[in-house]
Amino acid sequence: MTEAELYTVYKGVFLPTALHSPESLKYYEEFSFRPDDIIVVTYPKSGTTWSQEILPLILSGGDAAAIETLPNWDRVPWLEELRACVLDLEQRPSRRVFATHFHYNMMPPSFFKTKPQVIYIMRNPKDVFTSSFHYYGMASYLVNPGTQKEFLHKFLDGKIMFGSWFDHIKGWLNAEDQERILYIAYEEMIMDLQDSVARLAQFLERPLSSEVIEKIAERCAFKNMKQNKMSNYSLVPPGFMDLDKSHFLRKGIAGDWKNQLTVAEAEYFDAVYKEKMKDVKYKFVWD
Ligand code: A3P
Repeated sequence: MTEAELYTVYKGVFLPTALHSPESLKYYEEFSFRPDDIIVVTYPKSGTTWSQEILPLILSGGDAAAIETLPNWDRVPWLEELRACVLDLEQRPSRRVFATHFHYNMMPPSFFKTKPQVIYIMRNPKDVFTSSFHYYGMASYLVNPGTQKEFLHKFLDGKIMFGSWFDHIKGWLNAEDQERILYIAYEEMIMDLQDSVARLAQFLERPLSSEVIEKIAERCAFKNMKQNKMSNYSLVPPGFMDLDKSHFLRKGIAGDWKNQLTVAEAEYFDAVYKEKMKDVKYKFVWD
């Protein structure tokens, strides 16, 4: 199916129509944040699901019931998605944890007024590309990626869901009130998950013993998380996501782009990256 059939244009970016209705977008625009809310912000395929496992465990002090009783999309719901309207989020006790793929300039008024805490997870865009390519091939609610070369151009031009990776990261890196934002990279979580859990817990002012931190990191290791049916997307009907084509929790590594991109594609990617990121001072772990 085509872009016109599968996507809605919202504030200049494509959103999959199957997951976002005018009502759900209005719901988010009018959403009332609380100062102690926690918002995980990601460009898709950067570690959202991982954070939906880690954060409830941090807040529950390591109690696994937090991740075994609710699917990830109800546990840490996306505020812009259809489900948000039916989950009665206003009634949830504090601290509430939400996810969003929105760009900074797409956030609703209450976000800027109430200033909840933000965890921005970023990932090497070449790995985001690689993960996305497999995902678009198995998710029927998204436009088929076409050939790798075609998808590479679409990715670099931001002609995919949630628009340009470059705009997303630049917008969030330039956000105001940076003291309420923790920037963390997927690659840092891969390198040292215990340290990342400790950083997240500290940012959220949720003191945890080193034993609990170790337990959370173990529970959120890729091989263990893959077994959790509340997090591995096996509950989604095959007509929507075909896990026989590609698992949602696919490889869970840093650097898989080396197995995916040709030398010429990687060079082209680097050239576009260099140009688009030339004004960005932030030191990324993948550079
Ligand atoms: P890959 O396709 O490279 O394996 P999102 O949740 O934002 O859509 O991101 C999905 C990506 O995060 C997938 O990447 C997935 O495997 C990876 N991921 C999810 N849980 C993970 C974990 N516990 N450890 C490492 N990577 C994880």
